[in-house]
Amino acid sequence: MKGALFDLDGVIADTAVYHFQAWRKLARDHFDRELPDELEEKTKGVSRADSLKVILDYLGVSVPQKEFDALAAEKNEAYRGLLAGLTSADILPGIPELIGQMKRHGIKLSLASASMNGPFILEKLGLSYTFDAIADPSKVAAGKPAPDIFLEAASEIGEKPEDCVGLEDSVAGITAINTAGAFSVGVGSPNELGHARLLVPNTGALKYDDIEKAWERR
Ligand code: BG6
Ligand code: MG
Repeated sequence: MKGALFDLDGVIADTAVYHFQAWRKLARDHFDRELPDELEEKTKGVSRADSLKVILDYLGVSVPQKEFDALAAEKNEAYRGLLAGLTSADILPGIPELIGQMKRHGIKLSLASASMNGPFILEKLGLSYTFDAIADPSKVAAGKPAPDIFLEAASEIGEKPEDCVGLEDSVAGITAINTAGAFSVGVGSPNELGHARLLVPNTGALKYDDIEKAWERR
């Protein structure tokens, strides 16, 4: 195990909830509609534009490109507002210990998030200097579930995906890791993430020794 490719929202920090809160506000403010909980999973891991498509599809609305861009920008403003008070206290349980152990074992850390806010969030969490690389989602051709961002994240640390683990909380993200050829570690429920090679219910249960054992058995 030479590299760890980390998703951000829902794995390193509990920001996934803020994404959906911001989408809910947008749907209320513009379309006077409520979004159901079930829609959240479909917007997890996928890019801002793809998430907006999922939501407009659900609402049965189609808008011209200019309005689409304005809606995406407005959601991001609301989301950034919700992130304003983010600090290192918002790093999810178990993550500091896991990251510490990975670093002690000489494993390189690379961010493989679909979020354009990745560098901003890492900065707020005080983790900017902990990561060896941040894959830029604007540079990859296709978003999750395509493998591109994980391939890019591995390449940024000079490792082959087969020598890396990928950590994810979304359906699309686990598919992306598996297709990239890395070893997928899922955080969530078997109902959604049954395709993860190793699955834990929450980040507090992400233990370095368990990951290493599962990796050795792969
Ligand atoms: C992913 C989230 O990490 O980033 C998605 O799981 C989100 O819900 C995507 O749509 C893009 O994020 P951003 O910050 O660029 O809008
Ligand atoms: Mg996520």
